This record gives sequence, structure tokens and C-alpha cells, in this order.
Amino acid sequence: MDNTRIHITPDDVLADFDEIPDGSEPRSRCKYYIEPYGIHGINEACEANYYPGNRVPYHEHVSGFETFLVDGGAIEVLTLSKKAVARKGDIVHITPYTPHSIHALEEDSKWRAFHQGLWLVATMIDERALQSRHGDVALSPEFRAANTMRNGSKWFDYLTPECRDVSPDNLPCIRTLESALACYDFDGISLKLKVGRWETLGVKEVWQLELKPGYTLSWDEMHPFTHLYDVFSGSVRVTLEGMEPFTARARDLVHIPKFLAGKIETLEDTILLDMGCQGFLTRFMDAANTYKTTDPAKLKDAAFVQELMTKHDYHVLFGAF
Ligand SMILES: [Fe+2]
Repeated sequence: MDNTRIHITPDDVLADFDEIPDGSEPRSRCKYYIEPYGIHGINEACEANYYPGNRVPYHEHVSGFETFLVDGGAIEVLTLSKKAVARKGDIVHITPYTPHSIHALEEDSKWRAFHQGLWLVATMIDERALQSRHGDVALSPEFRAANTMRNGSKWFDYLTPECRDVSPDNLPCIRTLESALACYDFDGISLKLKVGRWETLGVKEVWQLELKPGYTLSWDEMHPFTHLYDVFSGSVRVTLEGMEPFTARARDLVHIPKFLAGKIETLEDTILLDMGCQGFLTRFMDAANTYKTTDPAKLKDAAFVQELMTKHDYHVLFGAF
């Protein structure tokens, strides 16, 4: 498969196949965008398109993290005796040993899934290959009971438990569009922390960047991490070293290799989701936000800001503080 695409539009898929194993019809579809990579298996990205009645059975993973962005419709999330409906813009973050189930409630319900350490879609593709070659064996109850394995992780299935309705704000795994674990405001940019590093075994953070037109993010060729942005709304112009600039619009993914200089310019009011932030942006924001109050002149000093970024291992330069 081709994992080198930088500008990924919604229909630019690596694979497109049926998804949910619960037998409900019509079967949901899975569009596969990015294969996992690196020692932590980060940034496996796909989109699940659901029909009303589709259900992912109640289960838990013994390793790996699932971060979902609801991108349309209504998806009921069930976990730990509660259930709530997540809608467009809500993020759902599931950690290991958190039992969970989802039920699609409306037409055109969809979500983007960003996995870490799960190799989930990669395994689903292997399962489809086995079914096509040896369907009589692969689909038998005995085989399925003995092989609910996902890359070595047991995928426990339970009966769906009784759950009571709560608002999305009362389900800790749901981060609504407006909510933030931490929020930082500067001229032209508001940064909302949606998933903290303590929720990913220290591997990454997830941020919602709310940008005004003309705001610029930039980095040099020494940027040590890949970038994975989901353009949730609005549009941005992306310029990368040695390449023709391109415009990324709502629902496009931008997946940029490390050690490639570039910049992102905001063309209109835009919400950009940084789904794989490996740099320590929370630490950098805490520091920058403190200087904003105590000594704002320091944030106009390019050398000082550069030093602060290096100290916190975060390497994307914000247009203005
Ligand atoms: Fe799951």
C-alpha cells in the first residue's frame, strides 16, 4: 500500500471494505487512509460509515488506543453503565481496558478513527483475506471464538450491559466540540487540548486549533515528527519544501513527513485537528501562556521563543502570540 500521500481527500483510500462483524444490514463501510507506522504504531487512520442499526459489540482492548472524531450523524457511545450520543465534532478517546460499544442512530453517521498501537484495520484486511480464501473455516463460530485476536491483543466481547442516558459531557471518553482539557488563547489562534499525553502512554497529544484567516503555522527542515492534521472546517494553504502548494479543505487529511520544512496558512475561519501531536505542546503552551501574563515582550523575541520550543520539544512556530 501507499503510505506516502501527503494530501488525502475523503475518497482517496488505500482500501474500502465492509466493517462491522455484527451481521446488521446494510453493513458499514471502512475507508482506509493511513497504515500505522513506527514503534508505537501511530496514525492508523480510517473512516467508518455507518447505517442506523449498525453496532460495534461491547468489547475492550488490552492494548492500543482509539481516538474517534464523529464527522456526521449520531453515534451512541456505551461504556461503564452510561450511554451518550456523540455528534459532529465530538472526539471519543478509548484507552486499553475501557469496555465500550457504539450504536449508529442516524443515516450518514460516520467517524474518523485514529489508532495508536492497535493495527486494527491492518488486521481486518488480513481477516478479509482469510475469509475470501477459507470462508468455510474463517466464518465458523468455532474459529471466530478461538481467534478474536487483534495483533496479539485479545478483543473481549461481552453482552451489551444496561446503560442509562447521560449528556455527552458526563461521559469522560467524549470530548465535545466546545470542550477542552486545557485551553489557551492568543491573537488569531485558540488551542484546545482534547486528548492528553497521559491518555496515550506518553506517545502523543490531540489538539483542536481554531484559527483566524491569515494565521500561519511554520516549521523548518529539522522538524523531528510527522504531522497529521484533519481539516475539520474551513481551509488552509499548505506549502512544503520542493513541492507545489496545495489547498486542503474540510474533511481532508494532511500527513506530512518529518524533516520537511513547510507552512500552513489559514484561508478562512478554520478548525484544524492535530491528531498526532508528538511534540510536547501542553508544556510549551503552559510556558507561553505564563509569559503572556508575566512578560509578554518575551514572546515577541524570536530567539527566546525558539529556545522555549526546543526546551519543550515542540517545533511548530505559531504566527504571532
Ligand atoms: Fe474498540
